[in-house]
Amino acid sequence: MEELWAAFEGASTALRGGFERSASGLPLGCTVAGVASGSVWLRPAVADDWPQIWPFFAQIVAQGHTYAYPDGLTLETARPLWMEPPPAHVVVAVGRDPHGVERVLGSVKMGPNRPGRGAHVATASFMVDPASRGQGVGRVLGEYLLDWARAAGYHGIQFNAVVETNVAAVALWRSLGFEIIGTVPEAFDHPDHGLVGLHVMYHRLG
Ligand SMILES: CC(C)(COP(=O)(O)OP(=O)(O)OC[C@H]1O[C@@H](n2cnc3c(N)ncnc32)[C@H](O)[C@@H]1OP(=O)(O)O)[C@@H](O)C(=O)NCCC(=O)NCCS
Repeated sequence: MEELWAAFEGASTALRGGFERSASGLPLGCTVAGVASGSVWLRPAVADDWPQIWPFFAQIVAQGHTYAYPDGLTLETARPLWMEPPPAHVVVAVGRDPHGVERVLGSVKMGPNRPGRGAHVATASFMVDPASRGQGVGRVLGEYLLDWARAAGYHGIQFNAVVETNVAAVALWRSLGFEIIGTVPEAFDHPDHGLVGLHVMYHRLG
């Protein structure tokens, strides 16, 4: 956990709204414009977060618009697919519900795209709870990824499979400096649009 916080702190400076800091100097959170509670905190995910991530993970996977995960996943079989151990780094965005209870709004997992000779390029996956979309959570998670990957010394970040009809994600990644390297035609079976392309998107950090 110490290492996670160290990476987290090193990568936190550019987050929108600026981080509050605890007495110990650890980042506590950042303000995201438009979020009902006024604040969203990013922190490394802990095992107990998974039961809160799972409902929107399951909803997003079942919708079938953005990710190709296996069918029939359960709370337990999906857990290792998202809550990956180091060198992966899993972060949650949290806010407070109207009763003041902390709630996970979204999550990003990041780490090397490939082992060994591909390990200097990072990759990541993002999910924001549909109930919390359009409020800046995805952007804050994306900005965090960029800072984390720079701080960790990665050469670049590669997204391997961005569904071309996922307009929100494509717009967000472009606005953060990612470019479409190429598109694998008809590689994703979309429930509404049929076979659509998968973009490979890349952001050079060096
Ligand atoms: C993609 C995703 C992470 C964005 O999260 P979000 O919290 O809704 O995004 P934000 O509110 O931070 O919006 C950031 C940008 O995304 C784009 N965007 C968001 N919603 C959009 C929409 N419905 N249409 C077009 N662009 C949209 C805008 O460029 C927006 O920029 P702005 O900050 O100038 O408004 C979220 O939609 C999600 O989890 N989708 C399902 C899983 C997924 O697609 N993951 C990524 C796979 S590559």
